[in-house]
Amino acid sequence: MKWLLLLLIVCDAVPLQGLTTNVSARPQVVNIGSVFTFTSLIGRVIKVAMEAAVEDVNANPSVLNNTQLRIIMHDTKFNGFMSIMEPLRFMESETVAIIGPQRSTSARVVAHVASELKIPILSFTATDPTMSPLQFPFFIRTSQNDLYQMAAIADIVHFYGWREVIAIYADDDYGQNGVAALGDKLAEKRCRISYKAALPPEPTRENITNLLIKVALSESRIIVVHASFIWGLEVFNVAQYLGMMSTGYVWIATNWLSTIIDTDSPLPLDTINNIQGVITLRIYTPDSVMKKNFTQRWHNLTHVGLSTYGLYAYDTVWLLAHAIDDFFRKGGNVSFSKNPIISDLRGGNLHLDALKVFDGGNTFLESILQVDRIGLTGRMKFTRDRNLVNPAFDVLNVIGTGYRTIGYWYNHLGLSVMQPDELENTSLSRQKLHSVVWPGQTTQNPRGWVFSNNGRHLRIGVPNRYRFEEVVSVQSNGIITGFCVDVFVAAQLIALCSTV
Ligand SMILES: *[C@@H]1O[C@H](CO)[C@@H](O)[C@H](O)[C@H]1NC(C)=O
Ligand SMILES: *[C@@H]1O[C@H](CO)[C@@H](O)[C@H](O)[C@H]1NC(C)=O
Ligand SMILES: *[C@@H]1O[C@H](CO)[C@@H](O)[C@H](O)[C@H]1NC(C)=O
Ligand SMILES: *[C@@H]1O[C@H](CO)[C@@H](O)[C@H](O)[C@H]1NC(C)=O
Ligand SMILES: *[C@@H]1O[C@H](CO)[C@@H](O)[C@H](O)[C@H]1NC(C)=O
Ligand SMILES: *[C@@H]1O[C@H](CO)[C@@H](O)[C@H](O)[C@H]1NC(C)=O
Ligand SMILES: *[C@@H]1O[C@H](CO)[C@@H](O)[C@H](O)[C@H]1NC(C)=O
Repeated sequence: MKWLLLLLIVCDAVPLQGLTTNVSARPQVVNIGSVFTFTSLIGRVIKVAMEAAVEDVNANPSVLNNTQLRIIMHDTKFNGFMSIMEPLRFMESETVAIIGPQRSTSARVVAHVASELKIPILSFTATDPTMSPLQFPFFIRTSQNDLYQMAAIADIVHFYGWREVIAIYADDDYGQNGVAALGDKLAEKRCRISYKAALPPEPTRENITNLLIKVALSESRIIVVHASFIWGLEVFNVAQYLGMMSTGYVWIATNWLSTIIDTDSPLPLDTINNIQGVITLRIYTPDSVMKKNFTQRWHNLTHVGLSTYGLYAYDTVWLLAHAIDDFFRKGGNVSFSKNPIISDLRGGNLHLDALKVFDGGNTFLESILQVDRIGLTGRMKFTRDRNLVNPAFDVLNVIGTGYRTIGYWYNHLGLSVMQPDELENTSLSRQKLHSVVWPGQTTQNPRGWVFSNNGRHLRIGVPNRYRFEEVVSVQSNGIITGFCVDVFVAAQLIALCSTV
């Protein structure tokens, strides 16, 4: 979900029509607009978190002095079209920033418009690694880029000595670009994706079944699932049905799965049953008194579980509050003017000419990028390439009704059983994970591949001569015998036995 942050200056004297409107700095009210699907898995969490953040900002006069922060939320009801149009409606009403739509696909469209209108778009849900600040200067990701969790998965694959993985994903921006990043990161480790198993963006059970049958017939047993919250669990349901949640299989899910577990625990028993032994990632957020206080308070606010998206939603509102304050300190005014290009679009019923350019947009963007604060998610500060500093992930193994943390992944240091904070002072990379309970309740690390049922047949040439017959020779009936053949048959028997 993305949201839209907008500053609406509520001030009777200010004319909203006209070529340019201006107000004195430090208005009484600053409105934040946000656009997301209220009833979605993330929506239920971030709504509560954003409201809590606004309450806290307003209770703390040292942030915005006497200016009140107010949040306006629009429900996009799982509709891609709405998640593009709602932000545009905010832009029409003189918005200084947008916490953009939820999905990467919509974010991309809105980010194009926002760059033209100089209205920053903030998102902690559009994690598509190809949304680059070069292409979208006014797009700011306030959560971790998917590039890092793909690097973490590549490190896990490499750590266990596997070479090839199968990637299951939806054929949309989020899926394609995430999996492309996974391919790049695996290549750095001399590993690769042997089968890109794409599903339609809204797959049916039949689509998933057909795909998983093809997956089961492939050689690789390492399956990475980069799915959506909506249909991700269905993949495991079908996999269980097809007997693919059994010994020999390795399932690695990106952070969609940990988010579901965090938000909806306790999960129904059959769901829990379907995901036993799965490895999943979660964005690492350091333990702190602040986070502990907030977690306690959370249970008073809602019955929904607190996922990392809640923490990022809370921090994003604070980030904006600090940026708004900085913007006013620099003498910034909230004023908008007509964009000559857009004004040419006058006429028709769309009223696109109502979209105005935020005059202080560049300064405000700068203020956002300069924020450096400690929040619930740890340090919130942007690198020069506009990613958050210190990307890190928890590596989780789903066991019983919950999961066990088997280690951490930290940007430069890779995998470790030590928390990223503890690692800071050690230059040594300790590539290590605690032992995993894999599907089929085994702790023995899977080999990662089987002889495939649909793979290529091996063709072996043998010399047909009369010398060294004990090594290899062709009998008159065409049967090949000899020491080489015996070794080959024995090796194949061993391989088949360990597959079973
Ligand atoms: C607002 O802008 C108009 C011109 O566009 C100017 O005459 C007026 O003084 C400005 N008001 C303030 C408060 O800056
Ligand atoms: C903001 O408005 C005030 C007066 O309303 C003006 O003095 C100041 O120069 C303006 N600042 C900017 C950056 O335009
Ligand atoms: C808050 O605003 C008032 C005037 O509105 C000003 O006197 C005071 O210094 C400001 N406080 C801070 C902390 O900026
Ligand atoms: C997905 O399944 C539906 C029916 O359940 C079918 O009509 C559609 O063609 C399938 N799409 C793909 C890409 O297999
Ligand atoms: C955490 O809560 C305690 C007790 O309510 C309070 O004294 C403390 O200041 C809080 N700490 C932080 C960092 O919010
Ligand atoms: C939760 O609510 C109870 C009762 O309203 C209150 O006593 C308690 O202090 C609250 N806890 C937190 C962490 O806000
Ligand atoms: C790392 O070392 C610095 C300086 O030696 C120290 O101040 C800091 O507390 C250490 N950090 C951790 C997590 O031990």
